[in-house]
Amino acid sequence: MHEAAARNVTQMLGRNPAMPLSKNEHLLRWVEKMAELAKPAAIHWVDGSQEENEALRRQMVASGTLSKLDEKLWPGCYYARSDADDVARVENRTFICSLSKDSAGPTNNWENPYEMRKKLKSLFNGAMRGRTMYVLGYSMGPFGSPMSQIGVQLTDSPYVVVNMRIMARIGLPVFQQIDTGIPRVVPCMHSVGAPLAPGQKDVTWPCNKEKYIVHFPETREIWSYGSGYGGNALLGKKCFGLRIASNIARDEGWMAEHMLILGVENPAGEKTYVAAAFPSACGKTNFAMLIPPRGFEGWKVWTVGDDIAWIRPDERGLLRAINPEAGFFGVAPGTSEKTNRNAMATLAKNSIFTNVALTPDGGVWWEGMTDTPPAECLDWKGQKWTPEIAKETGAKASHPNARFTAPASQCPTIDPAWEDPSGVPISAIIFGGRRATTMPLVFQAFNWSSGVYIGATMGSETTAAAAGAVGEVRRDPMAMLPFCGYHMGDYFRHWIKMQRSLTLTPRIFHVNWFRKDADGKFMWPGFSENMRVLKWIVDRTKGRALARETPIGWMPRYEDMEWKGMDLSKEKFEELQKFDREAWRKEVIEHEELFIRLHDHLPKEMVYERELLICRL
Ligand code: OXD
Ligand code: MN
Repeated sequence: MHEAAARNVTQMLGRNPAMPLSKNEHLLRWVEKMAELAKPAAIHWVDGSQEENEALRRQMVASGTLSKLDEKLWPGCYYARSDADDVARVENRTFICSLSKDSAGPTNNWENPYEMRKKLKSLFNGAMRGRTMYVLGYSMGPFGSPMSQIGVQLTDSPYVVVNMRIMARIGLPVFQQIDTGIPRVVPCMHSVGAPLAPGQKDVTWPCNKEKYIVHFPETREIWSYGSGYGGNALLGKKCFGLRIASNIARDEGWMAEHMLILGVENPAGEKTYVAAAFPSACGKTNFAMLIPPRGFEGWKVWTVGDDIAWIRPDERGLLRAINPEAGFFGVAPGTSEKTNRNAMATLAKNSIFTNVALTPDGGVWWEGMTDTPPAECLDWKGQKWTPEIAKETGAKASHPNARFTAPASQCPTIDPAWEDPSGVPISAIIFGGRRATTMPLVFQAFNWSSGVYIGATMGSETTAAAAGAVGEVRRDPMAMLPFCGYHMGDYFRHWIKMQRSLTLTPRIFHVNWFRKDADGKFMWPGFSENMRVLKWIVDRTKGRALARETPIGWMPRYEDMEWKGMDLSKEKFEELQKFDREAWRKEVIEHEELFIRLHDHLPKEMVYERELLICRL
């Protein structure tokens, strides 16, 4: 089966995929060394062409990993169902193997890098037997941008290749860039950890129960074993884009952040860009693609990115940001024409769906996509699902962390400058969590260091994006808890220090779309209506909107917000914005728990900010 598939790919490509696409000695030697270790049956250098993509998808349809969706309903779209135990990032199997344990800090898993290398060598020994090893060059960020970075991922998963083709710029141009000589290429070794014995029949989603997602920050290396899923396997995203990039950024004076980037254009054509950090599955994609509500005619929100921002001071001391990704790897459940029309248009073609439900007409469905569910479908495990079965057993048609992989260029609101090599200027930074209590809808930090404190102490209820309990409040500093590739205390220090290279610091805000009333109901409708908050934020950055000072920061009064097109009474707004002194006293104690863990690396500013806050409380 495997050899026949490889022959087919060669025929379709009209080239021998084993022929290297680069002349770079280091790269060639590394590929050779890794092949000696993992012992794949074949090597395929990925050129990124449409023909190659087509050949890989056909091969995966033949092997059962992908199904093609109905071409009329879902043009160019494919469907994958993962192993039931390979559905989310595995934070407890994610390691930062810095030379010293202290550099990784208490919020990361650490293993001695020497021991870990030994372990990985034994895990990867023969791990790709019977499979093809793809040599996948990729650029994080637009080609030719001084803010972009290059990685090469070796992987035995064609699913990873076709997903990475959407999520990053891949293929021949990357190897050409490597051959012109660039200062850094991040090596990324990935195997699903499921070697095939001669004649052994493959499963549709190979993976291994044992998983290791390992980063060596000093050597800027990534090794990922055992998972074929999302953030564990598409190594450009979380592993490089955040964990390794945060290390590079600290050393080079820039920032790699778990942030969306959007541009707000007012009716006069004035555009203001903001970056916003929210934990996984807290609505970043929806916010990045916001459609202004009634009352905001003539306003437009432009999307630059929905998950990662690389931010750097320019020569004038202003922060500029790029989205290093080329696609969206978004949470499907809850995405609909009502909640995110732009995402629905983006994912309507040339997309890959993983762990959603398959409808009898060759389409996909997920909870929340339509008001009426399909009468029948196959759920994400391939079992028959009907609304009646769901009522009886509570079974979900799609996994709560089911995803779509869709090209960013297809987003109707993609910003004309989204691939600008110099990035877009950032005027405001927004932090937000999922908090049922305590946190008002919006407030503004007094200054940069109080803003860093607000980001550093951010809390949020856990979601299905990571394996583990859902709904528990945990501290998730700057939404980077699972993604900061070094000591969190040093990361705060880096944030504090960034101010020194800026002539104009972005204003910092905190938002919470998820506050609930005494009956447990959300107090704020969210989605489009978040535009009202965004407008106040933009106006604050321009010095146009007023606010009142409170112990936690500046807050809009009812009259400082635009209410045209929305019926929300002053009382309701005040309830939503309520500063609850008692709740904040408890909150600040929880901050201390985090600070105690980080104490020996905590910058003084964080301690002083906390003291000031306590005094004001
Ligand atoms: C993501 C995540 O996939 O944060 O973006 O988990
Ligand atoms: Mn994310």
